[in-house]
Amino acid sequence: MKDSNYLKEMNARHLWHPMAHPADSLQNLPTIITGAQGVRIKDVDGHEVIDAVGGLWNVNLGFSCEPVKKAIADQLDILPYNSIFRGTTNNAVIELSDMLQEFFAPDGLTRAFFTSGGSDSVETALRLARQFHKVRGESGRTKYLSLKKGYHGTHFGGASVNGNANFRNAYEPLMPGCFHIPAPYTYRNPFNETDPQKLAQLCLAALQDEIAFQGANTIAAFIMEPVLGAGGVMPPHESFMPGVRKICSDNGILLIADEVITAFGRTGSWSGSRHWGVQPDFMCTAKAITNGYFPFGAVMIADHVAQVFENDESGKAAIGHGYTYSGHPVGAAAAIACLKETQRLKVNENAAARGTELFDGVLQLYTKHELVGDVRGGVGMMTALELVSDREAKTPIDKATIGRVQELAYKAGVMVRVSGPNIILSPPLVLSKQDAAAIISTLDEALSGATNGD
Ligand SMILES: Cc1ncc(COP(=O)(O)O)c(C=O)c1O
Repeated sequence: MKDSNYLKEMNARHLWHPMAHPADSLQNLPTIITGAQGVRIKDVDGHEVIDAVGGLWNVNLGFSCEPVKKAIADQLDILPYNSIFRGTTNNAVIELSDMLQEFFAPDGLTRAFFTSGGSDSVETALRLARQFHKVRGESGRTKYLSLKKGYHGTHFGGASVNGNANFRNAYEPLMPGCFHIPAPYTYRNPFNETDPQKLAQLCLAALQDEIAFQGANTIAAFIMEPVLGAGGVMPPHESFMPGVRKICSDNGILLIADEVITAFGRTGSWSGSRHWGVQPDFMCTAKAITNGYFPFGAVMIADHVAQVFENDESGKAAIGHGYTYSGHPVGAAAAIACLKETQRLKVNENAAARGTELFDGVLQLYTKHELVGDVRGGVGMMTALELVSDREAKTPIDKATIGRVQELAYKAGVMVRVSGPNIILSPPLVLSKQDAAAIISTLDEALSGATNGD
């Protein structure tokens, strides 16, 4: 490794960071991370902190998962690359697809289409949804519905169904035919409704209204996260996703569950859809499928959807979509090892237990700190604090103050993620009770410090 002087000198000089202003990255230099172990990361100055971001919602098993590392290293020696475009395949991807169909059998998903990450998975599901209707002779079904506040990656399709202006405006015009429904976000919503169950019903009514307005026979799919994640962690009332499922089924609209964050245990259940008792038609996965150690993803496909494609004799079901790295043998080997570890460690159970502790912790912080306007979580290891400068008026916090909270937390030993006015906690699912408590006490300290102008 180059020495620390060199790294600091070159920091942000010759690269642009995703989700950042290039000029800002040059002024506020990114923290240089040089190592990680367990649930902790270490920076170039040797400062070690708990990674309460969990990589980026993906390092569910922590940074020291030897079976996944070994699987990657071994596979590099055996078969470092193979294309699974028509005509060839590899042993690792065959084995993985069998494991995945078993893992997702309770979700009714029996086929996998492999990708290189979450945005790719979303793009794949959106495309296959349109094709499904074309194969069945309903070629007019081309539109997509989604939730405001939803995050579906940054490809043009995903950005078009995305529900956050920050990821849209600079790149408009986006894809036509995409329409958004209010999110079940109790703290701020157009209905001024704070009761989660009533709000869920209002959002469902808005969905029905939009379908009636557009015409059901023009809509291909509705895409949603079972728990809105990157948009600020918004667990819906338990009636919401089953309600969406029913409305979609009644109207011939496919339901795409974007589980790039929620698949593989983060909600406390093995999938977010299963958490709400829903079987989607497509499920987008990525991130934790390889514990973040290799860029990889899979779109899981419901059996009834697969049958339509597989029984087609017209040729319309030929898939004109795929990536050079679809079914990459190294990614597949990583995913096999990761899935085994994920199940062996029953990380969903720890996610539920530690997630409850984190949520109880942030509820305490709410009672103590005026800066905290809202706290959300309680569904596994997905927790957020929304900060305000005025609780009564719900005025979103300014960038400098929330940045200060983040900085103080980092100095005191915990890295948290800031997204708009939200502090998001998404630690590895193998987090210990002690580390969960440390995250809360450190945030407590940081919130006090920011309030006192430290
Ligand atoms: C729900 C959801 N979908 C899609 C994506 C995009 O995934 P990627 O960044 O791997 O392309 C993300 C990333 O955070 C996500 O949270």
